[in-house]
Amino acid sequence: RTKELEEKLSKLTTTSDKTLRSSKWLNRADDKAMSALYMDRYLNYGLTREELMSDRPIIGIANSGSDLAPCNRYHLTLAKRVREGIRSVGGIAIEFPTHPIQESARRPTATLDRNLSYLTLVELLYAYPFDGVVLMTGCDKTTPACLMAAATMNIPSICLNVGPMLNGYDKETLIGSGTVLWKARELHAAGQIDDDGLTEMVTKGTPSAGHCNTMGTASTMNALAEALGMALPGSAAIPAPYKERAQCAYRTGLQIVEAVHADRKPSDIMTREAFENAIVTNTAIGGSTNAPIHLNAIAKHIGVPLDLNDWDSIGYDLPLLVNVQPAGQWLGEEYYRAGGLPAVMAELLDQKRLHGSALTMNGKTIAENVAGKHSWDRRTIKSYDEPMIHSAGFAHMTGNLFDSAIMKTSVISPAFREAFLENSNDLNAFEAKAICFDGPEDFHKRIETADIDERTILIMRGTGPLGYPGAAEVVNMTAPGHLIRKGLAYPLPCIGDGRQSGTSGSPSILNASPEAAENGNLAILRDGDKLRVDLNKRRVDMLISEEEIQKRREQLLAGGGYQYPESHTPYQDIFRREVGPLSEGMVFKRSVQFQRVAQK
Ligand code: FES
Ligand code: MG
Repeated sequence: RTKELEEKLSKLTTTSDKTLRSSKWLNRADDKAMSALYMDRYLNYGLTREELMSDRPIIGIANSGSDLAPCNRYHLTLAKRVREGIRSVGGIAIEFPTHPIQESARRPTATLDRNLSYLTLVELLYAYPFDGVVLMTGCDKTTPACLMAAATMNIPSICLNVGPMLNGYDKETLIGSGTVLWKARELHAAGQIDDDGLTEMVTKGTPSAGHCNTMGTASTMNALAEALGMALPGSAAIPAPYKERAQCAYRTGLQIVEAVHADRKPSDIMTREAFENAIVTNTAIGGSTNAPIHLNAIAKHIGVPLDLNDWDSIGYDLPLLVNVQPAGQWLGEEYYRAGGLPAVMAELLDQKRLHGSALTMNGKTIAENVAGKHSWDRRTIKSYDEPMIHSAGFAHMTGNLFDSAIMKTSVISPAFREAFLENSNDLNAFEAKAICFDGPEDFHKRIETADIDERTILIMRGTGPLGYPGAAEVVNMTAPGHLIRKGLAYPLPCIGDGRQSGTSGSPSILNASPEAAENGNLAILRDGDKLRVDLNKRRVDMLISEEEIQKRREQLLAGGGYQYPESHTPYQDIFRREVGPLSEGMVFKRSVQFQRVAQK
């Protein structure tokens, strides 16, 4: 494939036959003085006038890796191979940093920075002479931030994932990054490991460069970038340290130059069909519950209608095919060797669950990229007929507690079914007593003393985009130690207006909108209230009278509404003023009117 591409490009002259966007800066017929000014500082590290004024495509390398963002740090090395790819077919690479986002270290929460990284990337791509861009993605929010910017700008763009870490091990047991934290917390709460043992166990989940090696939000969003057609086929799953990863970096450099010559833009790729392909793929890989937030945000920025009802109607009734943690057994290395995403999409294509004609950034269709790439390893990537589980997508819930929330029903365990569901053979309904926590600090303070039994539903509120701010990944809550020590065989169900980590496997109802901080009904729920969760009807209802709901709402509003902590930084304040609900992708409301800005 590389050879084919190089041949194609060698037929192109170094000067493109169409006017490049960069010529507005570097080769202005109307104002040579301005071109000289725009250009001259790029000469001072060795670029020449001849290079910059010969109408070669100027390709940005938007590098999201740094010491501050270790998941993506290997991009500092990979960028060299991207550069070589760009150069070898006549492009000029200009590398620059994006606003760094480190999922696991950023306080109060990394999602706060997705929109900041998006805004700053749009600003850079708009303001400088780029004809195309390689988006260096990886850690959770870096991928949607880049794709949102590509959508708004609409210049030729291609994603390059940093790749997952190698597998982690404890003796012969696989240790998945991120997922291990939930296990270690349980063992710690049960008194089976001490503080030191907890740290030791958790850090075994990060054995090398790369992003989380589980099917958390990072693996999910990079898989979806590939499913959308915005990354090279087969590229998402290559582990960071493998030689194929650096080879892929080189090929990505070649490809972006070809895409600029072909004038292949994100709006040619990210169509309604492509988003439907991504939703279908998300179910088959067991993708993160953060995916709807991010994918809906990308769709909003490119102007494709997409909402949570689409996720339920298109994505719910599909099987899980990928046996990777947290839903399954294996990690990134097995998944890659089993064939990665093309092997998953080949199954879906056979069943006509994909739009095979959707175009991708390499100029070929999804069908051309994935047809026949079935896995040889049925332990890791199942066939469509013998999946891990059926109906593995997200249910879109509504009711009198919130207008919108999602639930991944496929993580409901047999033990949970037995204990909770009215008809344990079917997805059905259950009633439970609510215990409410106002944020994670309140949870940690009261979890051991609150009146919680094995039939309690835990509520986390004040953790949405406005309340936290940025929406914290705290909805999945560990049961109190006394229940775990008594042998509680399942995680307690949870509901919240925040998010849930893509690496956790709790049966939670999350991303509830409107959030408590917007005075949604979560704010009027009280400890001891009964809730009815009906999975078939897709409803969650407070079993209290309409008069009581009205009375409580009046009390809430008379008291000044749901109270949440003040903003600590200027950006937190701006974020809170501009942000929309999780159900709408948590985008800045006024930013979605800006589309195709490169053409303006
Ligand atoms: Fe960065 Fe998981 S914390 S990818
Ligand atoms: Mg996460």
